[in-house]
Amino acid sequence: MASKTVAKDIITLRGSAAIVSEFFEWLESGKLQRVVLVIMSKATGEVLERWNFSIETDSEVVEKGVSREKSDKEIMREIQAIMRQIASSITYLPCLDDSCVFDVLAYTDTDIAVPFTWIESDPKLIANPQMVKLHSFDTKIHKVDTLVSYKNDEWDEE
Ligand SMILES: *[C@@H]1O[C@H](CO)[C@@H](O)[C@H](O)[C@H]1NC(C)=O
Repeated sequence: MASKTVAKDIITLRGSAAIVSEFFEWLESGKLQRVVLVIMSKATGEVLERWNFSIETDSEVVEKGVSREKSDKEIMREIQAIMRQIASSITYLPCLDDSCVFDVLAYTDTDIAVPFTWIESDPKLIANPQMVKLHSFDTKIHKVDTLVSYKNDEWDEE
């Protein structure tokens, strides 16, 4: 497994569309294992929040092209539940007082061709984080689990 990051300060519509469509290409081939959103202090580069979205792909669907049955409505309901959890996470996440920047990490199989805009990255982990696991959702082809880690302020003060 390799983790890769797109580091860019300026984003254009074309650049954004290219990044998003890369994810979909990688998703379709079943080679995207995780997408991580890392929020860092702009001043110090310290990682403050790390949103870990892990993706499990049904390999039979990718390999044999079989289909699965699940209604859009049910999938939407699951996604909405996660959206609500993300929205309410502001009640326990520490305030982000500093200016922040973010990075997107894609964990992929090692055999994929990586577009030149992506570079290898360290995992940008948080030492001794607080962790909260959110609901998962499942299309019957992809299952997405979300784990948010954030800097443990109490630990810092000891
Ligand atoms: C991210 O999620 C995956 C799958 O749930 C898990 O194996 C991994 O340990 C997590 N990473 C971190 C840093 O929490």
